[in-house]
Amino acid sequence: MTPKEQDAEKKACAEAAALLVEDGMLLGLGTGSTVAFLLPAIARRGLRLTCVATSPRTAEAAIALGLTVVEFDTIARLDMAIDGADQVAPDNWLIKGGGAAHTREKIVEAAADRFVVIADSSKVVTRLVAPVPVELVAFGLEATLARLSDVRLRDVPISPDGGIIGDSFADIEDPYVTAARLSDDPGVVSHGLFPPSMVSTVIIARGKDIETR
Ligand code: 5RP
Repeated sequence: MTPKEQDAEKKACAEAAALLVEDGMLLGLGTGSTVAFLLPAIARRGLRLTCVATSPRTAEAAIALGLTVVEFDTIARLDMAIDGADQVAPDNWLIKGGGAAHTREKIVEAAADRFVVIADSSKVVTRLVAPVPVELVAFGLEATLARLSDVRLRDVPISPDGGIIGDSFADIEDPYVTAARLSDDPGVVSHGLFPPSMVSTVIIARGKDIETR
């Protein structure tokens, strides 16, 4: 698939997801290049929405398009969240965090009654493969890296919450086991494995076709 074809698929799945948004919703906005197509598609609908952004760059872009973006500190539930993914497995396990926003994404998406994933066809995989993005606490970093010898730090800025971004390169035989291993480490803030239980709908664009599952 050429970059142009991939962008066309990103736009198509984003526009399909934008049609699911209803007037008055509390809406979580993901992060990434697929979401970059989602934001104008939502803004064009002219609905009254209150949005929560999963990253400063999404907040800036949404506000520039005229969407209302609020802090996510006094809201307990969202009606819907829409976000991209790096990999989508057949059972809807996801890998996210290619854009290093997975901690806030997971918090926002876990709070949503409905989490809609938007993906071009290159994101659909038969099984998840490493790397899995992680966010680590700066305190005790060397000790955390000594325990998690499969983690390599990524050369990106710290997260908005002060976390250090890295990736786990351990083989993923069972995503549940990998997720539990990473979650159990005291130095890990969050990881990019999102379980199927979080996912309500996956919208996949394949050429001109849209598949929903
Ligand atoms: C950011 C993410 C993104 O949703 C994921 O990386 C997909 O990005 P893109 O839409 O640019 O392919 O998890 O942390």
